[in-house]
Amino acid sequence: MTSNQPDLRVKIGPLELKNPVLTASGTFGYGQEFASLIDLNALGGIVVKGLSLKPMAGNPPPRIVETPCGMLNAIGLANIGLETFLEEKLPWLQKLDTAVIVNIYGHSIDEYGALAAGLKGVKGISAIEVNISCPNVERGGMAFGTDPDVSARVTEQVLKNSDKPVIVKLSPNVTDIRTIAKAVEKAGAHAVSLINTLTGMAIDIERRVPKLANISGGLSGPAIRPVALYMVYQVVRSVHIPVIGGGGIMDYRDALEFLIAGARAVQVGTANFVNPRASLDIIGGLRKFCTDQELTSISEIIGSLRVSTENS
Ligand SMILES: Cc1cc2nc3c(=O)[nH]c(=O)nc-3n(C[C@H](O)[C@H](O)[C@H](O)COP(=O)(O)O)c2cc1C
Repeated sequence: MTSNQPDLRVKIGPLELKNPVLTASGTFGYGQEFASLIDLNALGGIVVKGLSLKPMAGNPPPRIVETPCGMLNAIGLANIGLETFLEEKLPWLQKLDTAVIVNIYGHSIDEYGALAAGLKGVKGISAIEVNISCPNVERGGMAFGTDPDVSARVTEQVLKNSDKPVIVKLSPNVTDIRTIAKAVEKAGAHAVSLINTLTGMAIDIERRVPKLANISGGLSGPAIRPVALYMVYQVVRSVHIPVIGGGGIMDYRDALEFLIAGARAVQVGTANFVNPRASLDIIGGLRKFCTDQELTSISEIIGSLRVSTENS
């Protein structure tokens, strides 16, 4: 680090990032898709598209709808499956000089364990991010992440089978996200990330049909940012493990809101579809902000929110 450059490094439990900006799962492919557009090594890290044990075709089209200040997606977690990822995608990712975080999801608690076991001992993976927003077939399709006990059991199962830092990605589609955050912390998670998409729908009024073939989808983009920010604020005050924040971050000023609220790092999702350079622009903006504010380290910003009462 040269003396006049602010230090952007952050620690997420055992994981050290060169800066606090990660690309969010499902919005950045397996990284390779963006390699000709941006310098991937400048990122804090890449979270790859959610992986299941077997390849998944996902939902039928239409799978994406634009909404005011956001988008609804019902991709259905389409992905190439663990084996093809390890054979075809990981060797390329291993050559990068940035953190590679593998996002996983299962249809049962055992499948989460099997995925973690399949990644055990594999080099070039910095951490596992566990998506608990998907349907649990053993509980009639209810999302794992809506129940604190089930969320804890998924976390335990991943940790039992893993040799990597485990980040649990929380669903916002719950009454009180703090109860889930506390449950996964107690189960041993090294960190939590939030938020995943908010469930919603859109209707074609001429045809009187849902705009998405799946009927409902996940809302992302700037429309969800205030909700995401408040959830991050709440979770930061409820757990002792590091929190990674995201939801609707489009520029460095948005990212700063999450960092000031106490997030140790941020994830940039939908913004990648609008501007493939969004994450790099955010890193540049954070660096300049620190310099302008005469801060030597981004850590001086993290959790620096001033509130007049504890309950606000
Ligand atoms: C098209 C699309 C696909 C996504 N796929 C995944 C996924 O596979 N796993 C996951 O945990 N989150 C997935 N997400 C959620 C994002 O990672 C992110 O948490 C969410 O979109 C909120 O951030 P944003 O508003 O910056 O996009 C997906 C989001 C979008 C828009």
